[in-house]
Amino acid sequence: MIAAIGVLALILGLVLGLPQANGGGINGSAEALEGATSPSWYPSPKGGTVDQWAESYRKAAALVRKMSLAEKVNITTGTGWPMGPCVGNTGTTNAGFPSLCLQDGPLGIRFADSITVFPAGITTAATWSRKLMYDRARALAKEAKGKGVNVLLGPCVGPLGRSPLAGRNWEGFGSDPYLQGIAGGLSVQGIQDEGVIATAKHFVANEQEKFRQLSESLSQGFKDVTSPLSSNIGDRALRELYIWPFMDTVRMGVGSVMCGYNQINNSIACQNSYILNGILKDELGFQGFVVSDWLAQRSGVASVLSGMDMTMPGDGLLWADGDSLLGPQLTRAVLNGSVPIDRLDDMALRIVATWYQLGQDDASYPRPNFSSWFRTSIGPTYAGVGPSAGHSLQNSYADVRDDHHEVARAIAAESITLLKNTNGALPLKSGKDAKKSIMIFGSDAGPNLLGPNGCPDRSCNNGTLGQGWGSGTAEYTYLVTPLEAIQAKALADRTMVEYVLDDYQYSAINSTAGKAPNATCLVFVSSDSGEGYASAEGVLGDRVDLKLWHGGDKLILSVAERCSNTIVVIHSVGPVDMEAWIEHKNVTAVLMAHLPGQESGTAVLDVLYGSVNPSGRLPYTIGKSLADYGPAAPILKQPGGPAPQQNFSEGLYIDYRHFDKQGITPRFEFGFGLSYTTFEFSDMVITQTLVPTEFPPARPIGVPAPELNSTIPPSSQLGFPLGMVRLPKYIYPYLSDTTVTKSSAPYPYPPGYSTTPHKPSPAGGAQGGHPALFDTIFHVTVSVFNTGSLPGKAVPQLYISYPNGTGIDFPVRSLRGFDKVAAGPGETVAVGFDITRRDLSYWDEKKGNWRIPLDKKGNIGAYEIFVGDSSRGNGVTGRTKVVKV
Ligand code: BGC
Repeated sequence: MIAAIGVLALILGLVLGLPQANGGGINGSAEALEGATSPSWYPSPKGGTVDQWAESYRKAAALVRKMSLAEKVNITTGTGWPMGPCVGNTGTTNAGFPSLCLQDGPLGIRFADSITVFPAGITTAATWSRKLMYDRARALAKEAKGKGVNVLLGPCVGPLGRSPLAGRNWEGFGSDPYLQGIAGGLSVQGIQDEGVIATAKHFVANEQEKFRQLSESLSQGFKDVTSPLSSNIGDRALRELYIWPFMDTVRMGVGSVMCGYNQINNSIACQNSYILNGILKDELGFQGFVVSDWLAQRSGVASVLSGMDMTMPGDGLLWADGDSLLGPQLTRAVLNGSVPIDRLDDMALRIVATWYQLGQDDASYPRPNFSSWFRTSIGPTYAGVGPSAGHSLQNSYADVRDDHHEVARAIAAESITLLKNTNGALPLKSGKDAKKSIMIFGSDAGPNLLGPNGCPDRSCNNGTLGQGWGSGTAEYTYLVTPLEAIQAKALADRTMVEYVLDDYQYSAINSTAGKAPNATCLVFVSSDSGEGYASAEGVLGDRVDLKLWHGGDKLILSVAERCSNTIVVIHSVGPVDMEAWIEHKNVTAVLMAHLPGQESGTAVLDVLYGSVNPSGRLPYTIGKSLADYGPAAPILKQPGGPAPQQNFSEGLYIDYRHFDKQGITPRFEFGFGLSYTTFEFSDMVITQTLVPTEFPPARPIGVPAPELNSTIPPSSQLGFPLGMVRLPKYIYPYLSDTTVTKSSAPYPYPPGYSTTPHKPSPAGGAQGGHPALFDTIFHVTVSVFNTGSLPGKAVPQLYISYPNGTGIDFPVRSLRGFDKVAAGPGETVAVGFDITRRDLSYWDEKKGNWRIPLDKKGNIGAYEIFVGDSSRGNGVTGRTKVVKV
C-alpha cells in the first residue's frame, strides 16, 4: 500500500505539474517562458556547512539525537490554526526544545496589545537611511522578544514591485533589488541582533495577489482554476532582480525563509526543488529552515524532498482542517521509507540549530505572553478548540514599546518625500510668523470613525492611512492623525484651523477653500492596497489602478481652484497618478508621506514646519500613466487556464529600468526627492582595489554537516501514547493506525529525484553566495556640498552603467550604492561607496554563474559610474579604466 502522503503527492503532482528534470535553469526568452517548467535539484543540501553556524549545529545535533521520531516530526509541523497563542506554533518535545511562536510581521507585532506600529517597509525604504532601517528592525525585535515571539515573520523582500499595482509592495522596500537587499539585510541584522529569528519572505517571485492561492481563486468564482499562479521567469531576471534581496538576507545569516504561495515555472514555491534546494540552500548557502507560507504547502513528500523544512500553520490543504500534509503523514513517510530519515534529521537540525544560533536556548528567553485571538487575560488555551480544552492565562499585556515611538517618528518623518515646492510654500512658519489660517481637507487627515483598528487587519481606508491591509499589519496602540498634530501646533501658534474631512461634500469643500484665498490649504489624499484574502471598498488585494482613492484628484482640484497655496500630502502604498493636478499653479507643494504607521501626524508636522528637513527619496518611479510602466505593470486578472500563467518576459525591465530603456520620461524618477536646502555632488575619485577574474574562483569547501545516522524505529512506537487526551483538529505526529506497509511498487518520486549528491553550484560556497561576489572591486568617493542655507540630509545614489561592446543586454543604469549624509549650510562631506563583484556582474544563464562581462578583446570595459540625487538627476559621473584580464 502506498502511504496516504504518497498518493496525495502523486495526485497533487499530476494536478500541479511537478518539476521536470531538464538539468539546467530557464532562459528568459519569451518562448522559453511560455508554460516553463522548473528543473529538478535533489537531494536537499544539508544545513551546517558553514563555519559561522558550526557550533550551533554541533549543539543541535546533540539535542536532536535525543529526540524520538515523533518529536522530530513535531518540531517541523504547526499545531494547526489557531492552536496556540501565535499565528504559528510548532509542536513540543520532551527533549528540551520548546514550541516555537511564529508571529507576523514586518511592521509591528500583529494581533498584540501595547506594541509600536512602525512605518511600513516602503516608508522605511524611502528614508534611504541604513541606520533607520537597522534601528527599526532592532526595536521591532525587542518588542517581539518581549512578547515571547521566537520567529518574526519579516522582513518582506518580495514582492519586489514588478507591477506598481501589486497589493503587498508596501510591505517591502521598493522596486529596486539593491535597495530592497540593503534594507532586507539590515532588517535581518537588526532583528537577529536582538536574538529573534527573522524570516525573509516571500520566496520568490510572488509578484501579485490575484490567483496566489487556489482557495482564493475558487472563492472569487474562478471554478476552473486548479493551482496557484505561475511566475514564469528566466534565470537571469530571477537572480538579478528577485533572488538578489534574498541573497542579502541570507548573507546576514537569516534564520528562516518563507516559501510563497505562487508557483515558479509551474512548480509550487514550497515544493520547487530548483528554487529551495538548488538556489536557496546550495547556491545561497542558507543554513536556517524553510517555512511554508500559511497553507502554501500543497504536497507532502514532494515538499519535503524539495527542501521545505516546516509547515505552517500545520493544517493540510484547508484552514483548520487538522489534516496535515506533514505531522502524522511525515511520520508515516519516514517509516515507509519514502522520505529518507536523514532528510527529517536535516529538517529538525535546521530548526534547532537556528534556535541555538540566535541564543534562544537561554532560559530567560520569554515564552509567549499574549494571545492573537482575544484580549481578555484568561481565555481558551487552544482557541481553535474553544473552552472545552481548558483555559489559561494568555494575555499579560506586557508593554514592550519603550521609547520606540522615537524611531517610528524619525522614520516616518525622514521618509517623507518632497516632490514639489514652489513659491516657498514649505516649510510653514511658526510662532508670530505663523499663518493666520490653515484649512485641512480630506478624510486622510483625520480619524477612522470605526477606530484606528476598526477594520480587521486594517482592511478599510477610513481616516488617515497608516498601513496597507493584511497579515503585515498590527493593531495601533494609538494613531496620531495629521489633524490632531496640526491642531495642537496651531493652538500654540494661534493659527485658526478649519477642516472638511468628508471627501465628497464639495459644497463644504469649495466654500471652505474659498473663504480665505490666502490661507494655507492642506489636502490629504490616499491610495491603499493589501493582501489578497481581504478587500477594502471592493479592491481585493492588488490595486485596480494608480488613482487616488475617494475622488482624490477632484478633491485636490476643487481646493486648488479656490486656494492659491494648496499643499498636497499623500499617504500611499506606492506610486499614484498625479497628472490631473501636479502642474496646477496653485498646487504649491506635494509631500509623499507613504505609510507612516502610528506617528503619522507628528511626522508630517515635523516636515511641514521644517523641524525635519525632508530627506525622503522615492523607492519607485512615479510614472505619468500605468501604461508607462510597460508590460509588467498590469495584474493578470483572467486565469487563461487551470494554472494562471504570468510570463516575466520583460526580464530585467521593471520600474526605472523600463523607463530608462524605453526613453519614457516619468513624472518623478526613482530616487527623486527635494529638500529645503540644495546639494551639489562633485570630485569623484574611483580607486580599483582588485582586478577580478571573469568568474568567481573555485567554490570554497565548507565544513561537513553533522550526520545523525538515525535508524527508523518500529512503527509500533509511533502510536498515540496511552491515555493521551486528543484535541479535535490539533495536529499530532502520532499514527492512529501504526500498520505501515511498504509498497512493492517503486515510490512515485518527482521526476529527477535522486539521493546522489547534486553537483554544487559554482556561484555558492558561503552564506549569500560565493564569498568573492562580495569582494570590493572599486571604491568610489564623492564630495557632497550643501549649497543652500539650511542644514539637511543628502542621499547620494550610485548607479552603474555596464561597459559597451560586451554583446550583453544591460539596463541603462542600475543602483549599486547609496548613503545618507547630514551637512550644514556651506559644509562639504566626503562619501564613500564600495562596489563589489556582484554589483558588476550579470547572471550568465548558460554557465549558471555570476560573470563579469568582457569586451570583444577580452578586457573588462569601462563602467560608467554616476553619483546623483536620483536615478536621472544632477550629479557627477566617472568611468572606470579598461582592465586587461
Ligand atoms: C502571508 C504571510 C504571513 C502569514 C501568516 C500569509 O497569508 O502571506 O506573509 O506571514 O500569512 O500570517
